[in-house]
Amino acid sequence: MSFKLNEKVTWVGKIDWELKKFHGEEYSTHKGSSYNSYLIKDEKTVLIDTVWSPFSKEFVANLKKEVDLKKIDYIIANHSEPDHSGGLLDLMEEIPDTPIYCTKNGAKILKGHYHKDWNFVTVKTGDTLDIGENKLIFIEAKMLHWPDSMFTYMTGDNILFSNDAFGQHYASEYMYNDTVDQFELYQEAIKYYANILTPFSKFVVKKVDEILGFNLPVDMICPSHGIIWRDKPLQIVEKYVEWAKDYSENQITLVYDTMWGGTSKMAEAIVEGIKSVNTNVTIKQLNSSKLDKNDIITEVFKSKIVLVGSSTINKGILSSTASILEMIKGLEFKGKKAAGFGSYGWSGESVKIITEELTKAGFEMINDGIKELWNPDDEAMDRCKEFGKMIAEKI
Ligand code: FEO
Repeated sequence: MSFKLNEKVTWVGKIDWELKKFHGEEYSTHKGSSYNSYLIKDEKTVLIDTVWSPFSKEFVANLKKEVDLKKIDYIIANHSEPDHSGGLLDLMEEIPDTPIYCTKNGAKILKGHYHKDWNFVTVKTGDTLDIGENKLIFIEAKMLHWPDSMFTYMTGDNILFSNDAFGQHYASEYMYNDTVDQFELYQEAIKYYANILTPFSKFVVKKVDEILGFNLPVDMICPSHGIIWRDKPLQIVEKYVEWAKDYSENQITLVYDTMWGGTSKMAEAIVEGIKSVNTNVTIKQLNSSKLDKNDIITEVFKSKIVLVGSSTINKGILSSTASILEMIKGLEFKGKKAAGFGSYGWSGESVKIITEELTKAGFEMINDGIKELWNPDDEAMDRCKEFGKMIAEKI
């Protein structure tokens, strides 16, 4: 499959409808994904990025239908992660001397992955490549989201090839932002930002300022995953700036796990308490052992307050709660409040551990949390409701 974006640019990537997990098992892709590769035919012929290695042979075979591989003058590797560079091994078997334009870090990482001494041409921000009527301008995008990441801007057609930035794991036969379901599109875009880009938010703000400072017209943003932004393409750039600035909505999220239902009952009572004093706030009540961890992280990203709960087990916390806390810590959320809760039977360490972990993760702790013994009785449930009322006042 291929399709023409315009006279000069053709999409030659792969839509991966069946992908359910990405980054090993770390990222759920409920709506599949795509690996977007772009072929530019100006006076020179240029290939931007490839596809993930399982689709490498299919990619090269399809590419041959579009162009005589020997006519490809330049390959641009905006990013070395295998979902975009995986097609290089098979491609370079056919055209081993073709120059690969990438950042200095890109060359290092590609060598680290593939152990090949390909013809790397390293570029920096502002370097250009004449391809005929148009030229390509390279913009390093370090830590968006890897040290090697780079954007490529094509003059004339005013296209920003942004690689992972502004992308979504979203398979669709409708390739443009104005032709897909807007809720699905933005749900996948915010999930991508929350789970992948949050720790790099300060780089997002800086890079967007830098790009806007170039005053380059942008008619289309072509990311390396998901759909292409052609209708008001800067809308996703504006969203990124909003998301990068300690984003939150009017939302409280409870994330918890429970052994015999005690912590779950506490969650119910806390929610009841919140609702009794604030009917406007969105409340999400999420069991971390039952629900998708990346969807939970997306809800954490949207929240002003996060309440984390777990029963105590073996002087510790339940493994699904520990897993979410580890993800939360790595993502370095900023400007959010939190507290712990949990039931216990013996020693009762869970709430203290949760409080310590959330403090280390950079949350502003509302208090030392609430714990209740065994199965919460009416009095315990009342204390949880009061706790919920107090939380509601902190938003
Ligand atoms: Fe889509 Fe960072 O790879």
